[in-house]
Amino acid sequence: MADFKHSVVYQIYIKSFCDSNGDGIGDIRGITGKLDYIRSLGVDYIWITPFFLSPMCDNGYDVADYRAINPMFGTMEDVEELIAQAGERQIGCMFDMVFNHTSTEHEWFRRALAGEKKYQDYYIFRDGTPDVPPTNWESKFGGSAWEYVPRLGKWYLHLFDVGQADLNWDNPQVREELKDVIRFWKSKGVRGFRFDVVNLISKPERLENDETGDGRKYYTDGPHVHEYLQELAADTGIEDMVTVGEMSSTSLENCIRYSGEKSGELSMCFNFHHLKVDYQDGDKWTLKAPDFQQLKELFTRWQEGMQAGHGWNAMFWCNHDQPRAVSRFGDDGRYWKESAKMLATLIHLMRGTPYIFQGEELGVTNAGYETIEQYRDVESLNYYEILRNRGLTDREALHVLGERSRDMGRTPMQWNGGKHAGFTGGTPWIDLVSNYESINVEAEEADPDSILHYYRKLVSLRKQYPVIGDGQIRFTNGDVPMLISYEREYQGESLMVWCNLGSEALVLPEAVDVSGMKRLIGNYPDEEQNISRLRPYECMAYHKIQP
Ligand code: GLC
Ligand code: CA
Repeated sequence: MADFKHSVVYQIYIKSFCDSNGDGIGDIRGITGKLDYIRSLGVDYIWITPFFLSPMCDNGYDVADYRAINPMFGTMEDVEELIAQAGERQIGCMFDMVFNHTSTEHEWFRRALAGEKKYQDYYIFRDGTPDVPPTNWESKFGGSAWEYVPRLGKWYLHLFDVGQADLNWDNPQVREELKDVIRFWKSKGVRGFRFDVVNLISKPERLENDETGDGRKYYTDGPHVHEYLQELAADTGIEDMVTVGEMSSTSLENCIRYSGEKSGELSMCFNFHHLKVDYQDGDKWTLKAPDFQQLKELFTRWQEGMQAGHGWNAMFWCNHDQPRAVSRFGDDGRYWKESAKMLATLIHLMRGTPYIFQGEELGVTNAGYETIEQYRDVESLNYYEILRNRGLTDREALHVLGERSRDMGRTPMQWNGGKHAGFTGGTPWIDLVSNYESINVEAEEADPDSILHYYRKLVSLRKQYPVIGDGQIRFTNGDVPMLISYEREYQGESLMVWCNLGSEALVLPEAVDVSGMKRLIGNYPDEEQNISRLRPYECMAYHKIQP
């Protein structure tokens, strides 16, 4: 069993991490060149977003060949070199397996289109006429989830872009093909996998209209998903690797099963409920101030629930599909540093494996794009049109995109204050955040109080104090608004954590005497032995060994 409880994962969005050849696009050699930086963070694994052959309609999440490298990112030799170099630094590589769907340019899909029955059974095709799709299900990127192929007189299902056709996991041959992909990468020395939207792989046998929603209730955590994941793990021997499933709109009950110690499915799960507390009625494309009360309730429910069920959480705020947390839940102006550190502390010291998304360790903010031409993401461009059709003005639609677009998390990594932040010698494929002259690796290396150094400290605490990886959690915040506090306990060791989620000072339910305890970390200078209040966005953690 890989030691994922004491590990930290660093996520790399390859296209925006580091460009080694000046074409404006991050690449594999770019990552290899930055391994010492990654090592300096103290992380154990890097999860690299897909770099396989792809027409890139969804930036690589549309895979045309799972064993070939997209020339835009490098070669197989580059990948082997990366795995080897990372290994020398005790960093394991986790690759991103997009198994819910393939690109429509994948050979399987092409042969399906050419009429081969065998490959049509690899996908979800339904006979029909062009006027009525088989169901009213909607694509996650907007519009119908079905595309008609006139030549075949059939529709195919795509829960994402039309270029991403959903695979038919009920076909045992499909499952065997995918296991072979795992074995292939395993034999190359990969140490873990992230499975893209893996709780959507099992569709019901009979597809029906969703009278109340977009169809997700029929295929989310679908009928055979646990069985298929168990089979995949058992037949490929990945039970002893680090595996994380991305779970779309999932439930606690299912996540306990996906990640349970004895379930034989995955090491841990990403869920997104805490990242919807600023949606109005669950609609991502409407704006609302974050509901921190709801955020607290969600953390409490998932932390306590996963603990009770022996499941394991992947803890994260940021990834390539999310706007930047400091802009979203913190304050990227006056309390930029304090709030970025508080958000980090909150999740790193909870029960679960923390993920750091490139740039998060610097406190990178949302991009502040001003025109639609600056956007690249297919979902954002689709929704810009949808919002305009709903009657929003250009300015209003851009305002929503500026808070919600996945491109907010996809801006180039800010290495230094020089041209294009040191990301590329050419022209970046997407615009940088304009504040890179002050927010960048070089500047933060030089500042002992930087967010970067704070992240390093958080990661190193996990290595030093077993209670962080192994401890039981119990929330202690009572009902003080904007306060999240919790206690972790493990073999006579205890850790107490307080976080103020807001920009106002707050008073603790009762003063805490910390004189017998060791202060492990905090985002303000340490002043008192008797803590009764927290300053704006203040966080701190104290440790004690029971006598
Ligand atoms: C996941 C990926 C996202 C992608 C989608 C479809 O949510 O993180 O980037 O668009 O799956 O593959
Ligand atoms: Ca490049």
